[in-house]
Amino acid sequence: MCGIVGYVGPRDATPIILQGLQRLEYRGYDSAGIAIYSQGEIEIRRDAGKISHLFDLVSAAPLHGHLGIGHTRWATHGEPNARNAHPHLSSSGRVVLVHNGIVENYHTLHDELEAEGVHFQSETDTEVIVQLIERYLSSSNSLVTAVQKALSEIQGAHGIVVFSRDEPDKLIAARIGNAGGVVIGLGDGENFVASDLPAILEYTRRAVFLDPQKIAIITPASLQIQTLNGEIVNWKEQHVTWDPIAAEKGEYQHFMQKEIHEQVRSMTDTIAGRVNFSFGKISLPEIQLTPEFAQTIHKIFIVACGTAYHAGLVGKILIERIAHIPVEVDIASEFRYRDPIIEPNTVTIAISQSGETADTLAAMEEARKKGSTLWSIVNAIGSQAMRLADGFISMQCGPEIGVASTKAYTAPLVDLYLLAILLADLRNTLPTQMRYQLVNDLRRLPNLVGICLDRETEVQEIAHLFTDVSNCLYLGRGINMPTAYEGALKLKEISYIHAEAYPAGEMKHGPIALIDKNLPIIAIAPKDLWNEKMVSQIEQAKARGAKIISIANDGDERIKSLSDRVLWIPQTPWLLSPVTTIIPLQFLAYHIAHQRGLDIDQPRNLAKSVTVE
Ligand code: G6P
Repeated sequence: MCGIVGYVGPRDATPIILQGLQRLEYRGYDSAGIAIYSQGEIEIRRDAGKISHLFDLVSAAPLHGHLGIGHTRWATHGEPNARNAHPHLSSSGRVVLVHNGIVENYHTLHDELEAEGVHFQSETDTEVIVQLIERYLSSSNSLVTAVQKALSEIQGAHGIVVFSRDEPDKLIAARIGNAGGVVIGLGDGENFVASDLPAILEYTRRAVFLDPQKIAIITPASLQIQTLNGEIVNWKEQHVTWDPIAAEKGEYQHFMQKEIHEQVRSMTDTIAGRVNFSFGKISLPEIQLTPEFAQTIHKIFIVACGTAYHAGLVGKILIERIAHIPVEVDIASEFRYRDPIIEPNTVTIAISQSGETADTLAAMEEARKKGSTLWSIVNAIGSQAMRLADGFISMQCGPEIGVASTKAYTAPLVDLYLLAILLADLRNTLPTQMRYQLVNDLRRLPNLVGICLDRETEVQEIAHLFTDVSNCLYLGRGINMPTAYEGALKLKEISYIHAEAYPAGEMKHGPIALIDKNLPIIAIAPKDLWNEKMVSQIEQAKARGAKIISIANDGDERIKSLSDRVLWIPQTPWLLSPVTTIIPLQFLAYHIAHQRGLDIDQPRNLAKSVTVE
């Protein structure tokens, strides 16, 4: 959600910060601002609205300097307007701050400061942090000490960057708790800081990820990291390989469309290097799984949010079917508070594209506290979900920019498939021939995905059927029940059409009452173990006048005869079929939203990475 960028060095900080913020637009925001140190003063431009508007403000009243911070805000306390936009100044005007997080004890601190005579300029919780720093500056005269003292008073999880006009040679960044990632980019005689890597990748590939409860003191030529008590700690630099060009839209109209099309590549990359087709073997070295450990696992929990949760639902079926280990799948925000029973030899797998989702991280912590081994499946390299885990699988998708997740849904499906085979192999529960078969089934997957992508126009052609539609029902069964959930989520997210997903067998227990000619039904009915059941449920809906749009395998005449429209997909091995069945549904949501003229890559009220509870 909130994005942060900071710069200190010989170059003009303004364009670096503005472009960095632009690279974080995908996170979702409702206002933006920048503060630059210039000739002894701190100058700020900020307002509600898009970064293009901030560019306009800066060209109307230019800012130049060698030290600065910028921010995109997603409102939590106080509506999106200029007053509440970051950066925020302390009352003397000497300290300025940007912040990602929620100050949980905001009311207490606010009242305390107000009683001391502080006159607040905004309705934000953030302002209490900068006012606290101001309070401690009066007694210590050192920005680092004042920041340390202020941070020890605030509750919650935070990332901040701050500077003072009295110490214009440095930025101070801090990270408290698990939300609010902070990464420092190391340059040559200059340094960068950001909430996310894409903001600074254009300038450097040398990154230092700040650990929780640490403060970074960043000057053009140096980086020092301290604890909140002022003890100096060692830091490690990482080399990052993501190509910023990969984060450009290229030939596509929207990132979402581009990312749907990138799924052939992400499938290939997911399989590459991990699958030995000759020996029918899988290797996932980063999970650090030994045969001894694999054989002791009694139970697996999967925790995740949103799209990643739907991938987890498929993962349950894959692991239970292939590796015969019981799996429970939990929405992370529920898991963290439901006091789950975690017995010895349990593994908890967190799935997260960003690796920074607050609820998922908290669920991981809960599992850890109860003695579980932790694995994660993450896309963002170096993210917290990756670092917190004992082992991880990285999704080989590259950065995902569109808020509605697409390629980061199909990649973990294959990761979980690989993991299930590996577990079964190490536990000696998979007959050799079946192992070869399962591994071999992966060979054709990128091509099958490619065939689905080539059929985009067929999906586009039916988008007009949804012109006057305000409700939709998605039905699926078995391994494609999560496809129904994910298809409905895509439609809700970007087209704002209410969509509900149901296991088709449950329709008779309630949703059937909704059916009439105005409720389109999207039936996911590939030729698999559940095909017969889907046929009879489609018949029941048809008999009640529903308009049926089916996802079916090429040549399925029975489904064709029952449906108003069919979106055809090639026959796919059933355990991998959720990878292909979802593609027409991703396109469907995309083209309906496009036809409605909506902001596809940044849908209203949504954020790419939800780093607060
Ligand atoms: C947000 C996004 C969703 C995403 C979910 C989980 O709600 O809008 O698209 O699925 O977070 O994100 P994660 O990064 O943990 O996969």
